[in-house]
Amino acid sequence: MKWRHKGLIDLDEWNREELDIFLQQADYMEELLGRPIKKVPALRGKMIVNFFYEPSTRTKVSFELAEKMLSADVVNWSASGSSVSKGETMKDTAWTLEAMGADAVVIRHGAVGAADYLSKKLTRASVFNAGDGTHRHPTQALLDLHSAWKKLGKLDGKKVAIVGDVLHSRVARSGIKAFSKMGASVTVSGPETLMPKDIQSLGASFVSDTKKAIEEADILYLLRIQGERQEEGLIPSLDEYHLRYGATPELVKEGKVLIMHPGPINRRVEIASEVADGDNSLILDQVKSGVAVRMALLYLCLGGVRA
Ligand code: CP
Repeated sequence: MKWRHKGLIDLDEWNREELDIFLQQADYMEELLGRPIKKVPALRGKMIVNFFYEPSTRTKVSFELAEKMLSADVVNWSASGSSVSKGETMKDTAWTLEAMGADAVVIRHGAVGAADYLSKKLTRASVFNAGDGTHRHPTQALLDLHSAWKKLGKLDGKKVAIVGDVLHSRVARSGIKAFSKMGASVTVSGPETLMPKDIQSLGASFVSDTKKAIEEADILYLLRIQGERQEEGLIPSLDEYHLRYGATPELVKEGKVLIMHPGPINRRVEIASEVADGDNSLILDQVKSGVAVRMALLYLCLGGVRA
């Protein structure tokens, strides 16, 4: 099957068959990363710009690693220190980079729809969405699927409970759709002030009893309180949040539910250290999957042949 996508804005564009193929491709990349010599020439001659308007550790570093493992030429651009301070718009900046020969742009931006907007403005370069405001984070969803699928074998019929600040979470919006496409059912739980009104249209149902949601789940997916995207007053305090909704050893029955989190984690807020570092935690597996998944994505979209 020829891969039909040139970039990735939103996983709405992908069907189940493509997700299955993609996970196999990511597995192949993970195997490659385990070899003594990891680098392959698949994207030699391609120039990729990492175009980050917002802070990032995992997404930025793993995209860069993935690009380098595939032998692409990598340019890291960040808003601070750039001509943005002189008033240059995102569109003009991107056109400038494309004129210099960029074949692909990986963009993270605080505005909803930024990646989509850019993909319509650029004439030649592929665009990969590394997170746009509270809207979507599709590569996070892909790495989440990959790490859960590797652990559980298949995701059909599995139950995922997403707990925390769903309202401000692009991770949740992409994750709900992705897990649902793979046959899992998704519930969300947490303070009602942090739940979006359109949760059912996204494909998840709200469970007010967080303990019950966790008891019934195969995967507990925790979200950080996104202080940078909300006004104060939506929760009484971080201490109270931890007591009521935090994943503590008392709330999480060890030996049953798998723990996932996109990072960065806030210990003693949404997650206790014993749970974050416990045997059931997939948090570092997710990080590991991030490199393989982004390699698979760049390889498929930028002209590689499916392994
Ligand atoms: N999960 C995630 O997007 O992390 P970063 O913000 O560190 O990239």
